[in-house]
This record gives sequence, structure tokens and C-alpha cells, in this order.
Amino acid sequence: MSLIMVGVEKGGVGKSTLTQNMAAIRASLERRVAIFDIDNQATSTKWVVRRGENADLPQIHAERMDPDDATVERFAETLARLAEEYDDVFIDVGGKDTGIFRAALVAADKIVVPLIPSIADLDTVPDLADVLGKFTKRVDIRVVLNQADPKKRMTKAMISEMVAFKETLPLMSKMVANRETYKFATAQGKGVAELTGSFWDAKAANEMKDLYLGVFK
Ligand SMILES: Nc1ncnc2c1ncn2[C@@H]1O[C@H](COP(=O)(O)OP(=O)(O)O)[C@@H](O)[C@H]1O
Ligand SMILES: [Mg+2]
Repeated sequence: MSLIMVGVEKGGVGKSTLTQNMAAIRASLERRVAIFDIDNQATSTKWVVRRGENADLPQIHAERMDPDDATVERFAETLARLAEEYDDVFIDVGGKDTGIFRAALVAADKIVVPLIPSIADLDTVPDLADVLGKFTKRVDIRVVLNQADPKKRMTKAMISEMVAFKETLPLMSKMVANRETYKFATAQGKGVAELTGSFWDAKAANEMKDLYLGVFK
């Protein structure tokens, strides 16, 4: 059983996109996979519904909890139930309710923090590093730069700023580019590796494979 949290305080950084792609890879390995969706937009729940329309895909369970009426207690109970029923549980969570965000941080075996190279995303890093710095257990965590172009100055600046946080928030060496493929996959209820025909994009599939291996190996 693995509990994987894909979380960061900001929205729009790629939590749901990366959750879906990792969940799809796990499901392709015949594991029972659930996404615990505590994101305001319910993006991953909608993705699971679209996925359900395609009987050829290994199915994934979505457990939806509206962050506006969730409590830490209900979160913990639901997570415990999912952990019993599934081989992998991905928690797709924003930081709106810090109680749940922190409970997820504590519960997770693996944590993935997507960030876009930007000042706004960099500004969230010290707070997260502070929270993690108070943990007594060793946390298996990594930051992945999403929608990142290695040639851009902002990406290079982000990489050098993250060096100061390398103990608490290590940066993955491989980043994820901005590719329309990710949006097509979301629209089709698929991971990028499951796209076919003109939608197939080997670069995106390789990026998700690298992310997957970085998190699970
Ligand atoms: N690497 C990427 N390339 C292109 N579009 C992306 C990428 N990552 C995310 N997106 C798009 O950015 C938007 C926000 O991503 P999403 O995964 O929903 O973020 P979050 O869950 O953190 O709010 C979505 O429209 C998604 O399709
Ligand atoms: Mg989301």
C-alpha cells in the first residue's frame, strides 16, 4: 500500500494533472488505485468519470470530498478506509484547509510538490519548508517543476533558489514541460501514456515515466 500526496498550497500548478498521470501508470500495473480528490475544482473526479466511459482502460476509483465541508476527522476516516481497500491512494489536495493539508502531509508515504517556475510559486516554498522542518519523521518528498522550459531564465532562477531548500524540499532533476498533450489526456480520462493516434506524444509519455520512476523507485 502506498499513500501518495500530490499537494501544494497554490492551485493551478499541476496537482491534478500529475496525480492523474501517476495514477494511470499504477493502474496499468494492475494495482487497485484510488484518487482521494479534495481539490475545489474536482478535476480528478471528473477525469475518473470520463475514464469510466472507456471500458478498455484499467479503472480508477475517485473519492470526492469537498474541501469546504471537510473536517480533518472525516478526512482521516476516509483515508483509512481507502488505504484498506486500495493498493495505491493518491491524495490530490490544495492548501485551502491547512488542517487537512497537514494531515495529508503527515499520513503520506510519498509527497510530490509540483511548482511552476514563477515568483508566486517560489513564495510558497518557505512556508512549506517550515511545516516540514517541524516533522520528526523522515519525509519522502520531492519538488517537480511543471510547465517548465529549461532554457528560460525563470526556470534557471527557480532551480538556483531551490538549492537553499535542498534538505527539506529536494528538486527532482527532470522537469515537466508545457505540452498540450497533458490537456488532451485530461479531456480523455487518460494518462499521456494511454493516448493513441495523433494524440500520442513520446516526450510527454517519457516525462511521466521519469516522474513515476522518481517517485516510486
Ligand atoms: N505540463 C503541462 N502542460 C500543459 N498544461 C498543463 C500542464 N500541467 C498542467 N496543465 C494545465 O494547467 C491547468 C492547471 O493544472 P491542474 O493539474 O488542474 O492544476 P491544480 O490541480 O494544481 O490546480 C490545467 O488546465 C492543466 O491542463
Ligand atoms: Mg486540481
